[in-house]
Amino acid sequence: MTLTTAVKRLAWTGLAAAFLLAPAGLAMAQTADAGDARAIEFGKDIFKTKARCQFCHKWDGTGDQGYGGNALSLRKTQLTREQLAETVKCGRLATEMPYHDKFAYTDKRCFGVTREQAGGDTPPDANQFLQPSEIAAVVSYVFAKIVGKGDPNYDECVDFWGKDTQQCEPLKK
Ligand code: HEC
Repeated sequence: MTLTTAVKRLAWTGLAAAFLLAPAGLAMAQTADAGDARAIEFGKDIFKTKARCQFCHKWDGTGDQGYGGNALSLRKTQLTREQLAETVKCGRLATEMPYHDKFAYTDKRCFGVTREQAGGDTPPDANQFLQPSEIAAVVSYVFAKIVGKGDPNYDECVDFWGKDTQQCEPLKK
């Protein structure tokens, strides 16, 4: 066998391997997508029902000036995923943004302070505490559907509330 045929063979083997592996790679990507979609759906449920983020931030995350003080716009937030997850876990000191990690402020996991040290600045506890997986899911949801999305539209509204409601009529064009 000459060197060139050896190199050619090697190249073909590599190519064949790439083709054989491609479907496996694709299947993995599809599973990841389906997994993401499930996480986002789960996160929506937490946003809407379990943690009721929408009470203060509104369904579309544009925020509100009513109950719970001035809940910031999640559409316009500049926070990274980590920072946003921390905000959900720990709430925000000296504001009405509640903490959702049951053990926040029992030790120094949140901003390095205990409840004793934070004193009156300790944020309120959430109406429902969340498991780490639930926090991850709600963060996925917020990033998939809210952060950086501009003005809310009719389709997003129906996506959130479903079709059997008048809620979205004002957004209909
Ligand atoms: C009781 C009302 C209330 C609830 C419920 C609530 N928030 Fe908030 N949230 C606030 C307020 C008020 C602020 C503004 C805090 C401040 O002034 O910095 C805030 C701030 C935030 C911020 C910081 C945004 C930024 O750009 O700095 C994020 C992120 C956030 N909330 C996400 C959530 C999520 C996700 C949930 C549900 C798991 C939730 N909030 C539930 C009231 C609430």
